[in-house]
Amino acid sequence: MTFDYDLIVIGSGPGGYVASIRAAQLGMKVACIEKDKTLGGTCLNIGCIPSKALLNSSEKYIEIKNHASEHGINFEKISIDLPNLMQRKNIIVKKLTTGIQFLFKKNKIDYINGNATFIDEHNIKVISSKELKLSAKSFIIATGSSSSKIPKINIDEKKIISSTGALSLSTIPKTMLVIGGGYIGLEMSSVWSRLGTKVTVIEALDRILPSMDLEISNQFIKILKKQGLEFKLSHKIIDAIVKANNVEVMIKSILDGKTINEKYETVLVSVGRVPNTEGLNLDKIGIELDKNKHIKIDKNYKTNVNSIYAIGDVAPGPMLAHKAEEEGVACVEMINGQKPHINYNNIPSVIYTNPEVASVGKTEEELKDNGIDYKVGKFPFMANGRSITTSTPEGFVKIIADKKSDSILGAHIIGATAGELISEIVTTMEFGGSSEDISRICHAHPTTSEAVKEAALEVDGRAIHI
Ligand code: NAI
Repeated sequence: MTFDYDLIVIGSGPGGYVASIRAAQLGMKVACIEKDKTLGGTCLNIGCIPSKALLNSSEKYIEIKNHASEHGINFEKISIDLPNLMQRKNIIVKKLTTGIQFLFKKNKIDYINGNATFIDEHNIKVISSKELKLSAKSFIIATGSSSSKIPKINIDEKKIISSTGALSLSTIPKTMLVIGGGYIGLEMSSVWSRLGTKVTVIEALDRILPSMDLEISNQFIKILKKQGLEFKLSHKIIDAIVKANNVEVMIKSILDGKTINEKYETVLVSVGRVPNTEGLNLDKIGIELDKNKHIKIDKNYKTNVNSIYAIGDVAPGPMLAHKAEEEGVACVEMINGQKPHINYNNIPSVIYTNPEVASVGKTEEELKDNGIDYKVGKFPFMANGRSITTSTPEGFVKIIADKKSDSILGAHIIGATAGELISEIVTTMEFGGSSEDISRICHAHPTTSEAVKEAALEVDGRAIHI
């Protein structure tokens, strides 16, 4: 049987475009189908990249506004030029999305713009201005995820927005209600609060970031409150009605059932994401979904249909761009007959607030629940020389190791450079390393990485600078 392609990848986000490139490197004839006008999926267009651009601009503004004078730098007057700030973000997004186009050309990948839908296990229809029929030996579904909705709350992307709307507001709202104290809620709260919005976060649980280590989450909420964010934990939204100038909301306390009515200029819904499985005709070709509407896959990323694989947000697991990238590579190598392996315990996660929060492996709570004996080493950035010189003394490094073997089981960092620091611990964990291993490595002075070494030393009560 001959096919148009060895592999067709549906979706060009970090999972799909990386899978396409790896497949081309391995000599496969590849096409990548993307329904949007630009490549890169949510991450590059309306997720990771634009949010980090806005986080960076707003952080610079706050740094200058609140801290420049400490450095002996005085500004007469500073102000926000929102159109320019957004323009910078748009330029960054364009640079990266067109970068993928260049990579596709370089790797001779056919980029086809349109909506893909399965005809059978080897054939798809691509609908754009015209209709195209294509066949392939294998398919990878990498269609990503979309913002979850809340019943009765209608996202119009003007007054009631998702993360997409939050990345391109044309004015700075006076007030904003953020529903959900997770990754998106806290990053977007930081951006708009720094630019001058009075932000209130409501979270259904009694803590923010439910998947994070509790000690980190407790410290984090204290810092965010100090920065001006207001939190209503154990609260749910009941109703939101859009009026001319604001949104009237009804919020209910989960603890005592009391309701309150409030008004906000903007409401952001950030209560998780759902896999994009609609429109692919999956039920027609018999592809099974799990109870969370993710595509069911085996350990080789294969669905219950032999020629079709699924990776990234549309498949089970953490909805993170780097997890999708790893799966893209592993899936293609698997199709090519290799035996790649992803260690799912060692996938880091980072929240790009200030301070950043980064985490890998098990939390203390998970270890307690599973009856695993562990020891903990902690080191605060206020005892780290470099952090003092950069006026970023908030937070700490926490390393958790197996009580007997000393292998690192998890690490949790809250601090200015947490997102970069976590990678040393991820690497050590990938090599099955211990806290002793990190503590014996020479770390440059003065760097914030010394706090990682000190936390590793402290697992054994040997930190030098506390
Ligand atoms: P999330 O799962 O991180 O947080 C959602 C929060 O909303 C949870 O704390 C949950 O308890 C709460 N919640 C759910 N329903 C609620 C309700 N009705 N009322 C009040 N609170 C409610 O989801 P989020 O922030 O939307 O992010 C979605 C995905 O995107 C995540 O899986 C995350 O991994 C990914 N992401 C990753 C980023 C990063 O790596 N820096 C940045 C942004 C998103």
